[in-house]
Amino acid sequence: MNCSRMIKSLVLLTLCLVGVCSGKVGQQKRHLVCFYDSSSFIKEGLGKLVIDELEPALQFCDYLIYGYAGLERSSHKAVSLNEQLDLDLGKGLYRTVTRLKRLYPSLRILLSVGGDKDIEKSEDAKDLPNKYLELLENPTGRTRFVNTVYTLVKTYGFDGIDIAWQFPKNKPKKFHSGVGSVWKGFKKVFTGDFIVDEHAVDHKEQFTSLLRDVKNAFRPDNLLLSTTVLPNVNASLFFDVPAVINYLDFVNIAAFDFYTPQRNPELADYAAPLYELSERNPEFNVDAQVKYWLRNSCPASKINVGVASYGRPWKMTDDSGETGVPPVSKVVDEAPVGGNTQLHGIYSWPETCALLPNQNNAYAKGANAPLTRVRDPAKRSGNYAYRAADKKGDNGIWISFEDPNTAADKAIYVKNNNLGGVALFDLAYDDFRGVCTGDIYPILRAIKYRLIN
Ligand SMILES: *[C@@H]1O[C@H](CO)[C@@H](O)[C@H](O)[C@H]1NC(C)=O
Repeated sequence: MNCSRMIKSLVLLTLCLVGVCSGKVGQQKRHLVCFYDSSSFIKEGLGKLVIDELEPALQFCDYLIYGYAGLERSSHKAVSLNEQLDLDLGKGLYRTVTRLKRLYPSLRILLSVGGDKDIEKSEDAKDLPNKYLELLENPTGRTRFVNTVYTLVKTYGFDGIDIAWQFPKNKPKKFHSGVGSVWKGFKKVFTGDFIVDEHAVDHKEQFTSLLRDVKNAFRPDNLLLSTTVLPNVNASLFFDVPAVINYLDFVNIAAFDFYTPQRNPELADYAAPLYELSERNPEFNVDAQVKYWLRNSCPASKINVGVASYGRPWKMTDDSGETGVPPVSKVVDEAPVGGNTQLHGIYSWPETCALLPNQNNAYAKGANAPLTRVRDPAKRSGNYAYRAADKKGDNGIWISFEDPNTAADKAIYVKNNNLGGVALFDLAYDDFRGVCTGDIYPILRAIKYRLIN
């Protein structure tokens, strides 16, 4: 046994002593579902998460969900979105990842389809109809999907599939800036007068058929089927909960990104509150999303609360004020791109952490000055951090983010409500190198610790 293996075994043993094995009678085991977006594998620089660095996370995960496969337009096949990465000659990442089960025999590994990552880049693609809805409308297409998804799962050794169907999203509220207009804007949201999909009733029914057919195809092999409700998808429009829940092993509710710089470029607000906040849309919080499923007779044990390991940054302008208290108006979607993730409008936890007050930035000025961090002792809204714009209107920033403490609060919520567990989106945005405090995967481990204690 080499040293790192031995350390892993010791960690496992410790976890065991701490709680997993002590399993009080009648207490259900809570699950930790870990999403791994494989696009992080092909990043340059520090955002790159390779298998050796993924491995230390796996002792904490009950399920690993590999993202993301997609749909081929018109043929309705389930396909890899990056064949060179996923499939190539036995060296592909699909097989590399499913082989990890040899080292972690109790880990179940699923392939996820959709996940807002199946985006066609070509110029004319944005005018094409949503292929996820087209597939649902076509019975032959549904059969094609079921057959091809089954083949992918069997060929590459997955334990099942997660369906993160790309349904149309709620339209973000646009509001016109001007004195007092922020609150008027919110009132309009409450009336919910947007039609997201004129054929939602049909699509809901067809989606139920799709899940039923996938489950029927999977049953002889005991394969798993889960679904992920993507951020800002209105479950009441597309998920017939009492019907679909029979076909699902669990549901991951991605209850975050209620506000994002892309969707809400003019107004910064909490991205993923746990409970309803005053003067906000009553549906824009974890609790409301969970209650919707519970109210519709979903067993609590099948619900996994989605927790984002990333933050959402806006740029504060000189009109955004000095206080940082959300909602913050007159912001713009122009926060600097994170050095590791290299993505617009998203900071991994280590990227946010580096901006918070620490030894390195204590005396820094301007663009490097530490942000003011505002915690959430009431455990309702989550954290934010900000730096008001300077006199020239530069260097302003406002970030809504999850940290190990707020993620732990969500795990406690899961326990208190007897839910199935937590789904973490995504391992690649947690601090897998331990640059923030020296501990690797701090968000993942904070969740695990709370789920089992
Ligand atoms: C979701 O749809 C329901 C109708 O099924 C509607 O009442 C509600 O306002 C919608 N929620 C959002 C956030 O758009």
